[in-house]
Amino acid sequence: MTTERNGKILVIGAVGQVGRSLTRELRARVGADRVVAAGRATEPPAELRAAGPFEKLDATDKAALDRVIRRHAIGTIYHLAAVLSADGEKDPVRAWTINVESLRNVLDLAVAHSLAGVFWPSSIAAFGPTTPRENTPQRTVLEPTTLYGVTKVLGENLCHYYFKRHGLDVRSLRYPGLLTYETYSGGGTSDYSVEMFIEALRHGRYTCFVRPDTTMPLMYIDDAVRATIELMQAPAQRISIRTSYNLTALSFSAAELAAEVARRVPGFVCDYQPNFRQAIADSWPRTIDDSAARQDWGWQPRVDLAMLCDTMLRGVADMAAKGVRL
Ligand code: SER
Repeated sequence: MTTERNGKILVIGAVGQVGRSLTRELRARVGADRVVAAGRATEPPAELRAAGPFEKLDATDKAALDRVIRRHAIGTIYHLAAVLSADGEKDPVRAWTINVESLRNVLDLAVAHSLAGVFWPSSIAAFGPTTPRENTPQRTVLEPTTLYGVTKVLGENLCHYYFKRHGLDVRSLRYPGLLTYETYSGGGTSDYSVEMFIEALRHGRYTCFVRPDTTMPLMYIDDAVRATIELMQAPAQRISIRTSYNLTALSFSAAELAAEVARRVPGFVCDYQPNFRQAIADSWPRTIDDSAARQDWGWQPRVDLAMLCDTMLRGVADMAAKGVRL
């Protein structure tokens, strides 16, 4: 599947953590007018609206999604809208509706309109405490303890089913925790990693909601966006996984991150007050085996921990200088 052919691209969840960066990158590659950004925000960021088409869209509304696909002659959908792990525990009904109903709508309409392809992200949250936590294999036990994780396992199987049953070219990645300074996702468990940078610059200290030894796979947004586009550009015969590919770049503990931040922000102090998100973090892998992604379509991460810390601190400082409140 190429992103240049087969109609326009629709990015659902374009205002979110991944959507902002992915939309910008796709527009740079294929032309701004060929990438329709869609989100539920009434006031989307000016950059998104000014740079190309924007549709206010709730993807749980199938008729509205159908209209957008027709109006713009959409060929490929990147469906990123989701309620993350911690928010999902607070409002399971909303998490179910947004995470499951919208995916089913996207897959159904992709088949009905014979779209060229669909991208939908799964997550490390698809795993659970019975999964091997080190070097977690591609094919392993999937018994998540969060509703978010349950919706990801269901979604992976739904994607696999639509590929087998309807021949739909749907592709997926199990994203690790993602860091970006542009949008603060909120509602996730990996958010401590982003909050640490924001609070370090704002107050010189941070109270972390997981223990210092908590280690999980984390990735800078640029690697996640590049992985997404590389997966979607790979020839179909290279795609052997139709549930969702394991994907990783870095694994580090909260204490290791705090030490890196302290090296760059003199006097930074991190203390630790674990809350309900500790149990979620403890149920996820510490390290991931992503050899299938490396073999099938050549995945290679680029951003190491030092680059990640330098970029995050520079970015958070820039946003603060512009008066953007994260
Ligand atoms: N970043 C997500 C979360 O923390 C994991 O996919 O919920």
